[in-house]
Amino acid sequence: MRLTVLHLTSAAIFICGATLALSSTLRAQNDAEKIYKTNCVLCHAADGSGSSPSGKALKAQDLRSDAVQKKSDAELSASITTGKGKMPAFGKKLKPDAIAQLVAFIRALPKK
Ligand code: HEC
Repeated sequence: MRLTVLHLTSAAIFICGATLALSSTLRAQNDAEKIYKTNCVLCHAADGSGSSPSGKALKAQDLRSDAVQKKSDAELSASITTGKGKMPAFGKKLKPDAIAQLVAFIRALPKK
């Protein structure tokens, strides 16, 4: 009997923890998507393909491509922070943790 209560309690704690962890992951994803939509969609398109008119005009890379995906997180955040070619720098506009979230968002794009 006591064992069952213990089991139930630990199951309840586990479920609470899992729900909390899941909701914070979802929240982070939503934040990243919002930041991406506000700052990046213009040139990179919603799917990262760069197929928007400004993306085509400026030759924005397909963020899902191997060329981009094989770069390290540090290289990607450096490009976002200091800009690259015709891409503006976002280091003044976005905090480092927002840029880290964007890198994670870019990593998830090919899986969509
Ligand atoms: C004004 C258009 C424009 C906007 C806005 C823009 N980009 Fe870009 N981006 C580009 C272009 C053009 C390139 C290709 C640069 C090159 O290789 O010369 C690029 C390249 C990149 C790359 C590849 C960098 C590399 O190291 O090869 C990443 C990652 C990237 N952009 C992410 C973002 C993110 C995240 C945002 C939003 C915060 C963003 N971009 C906003 C135009 C833009």
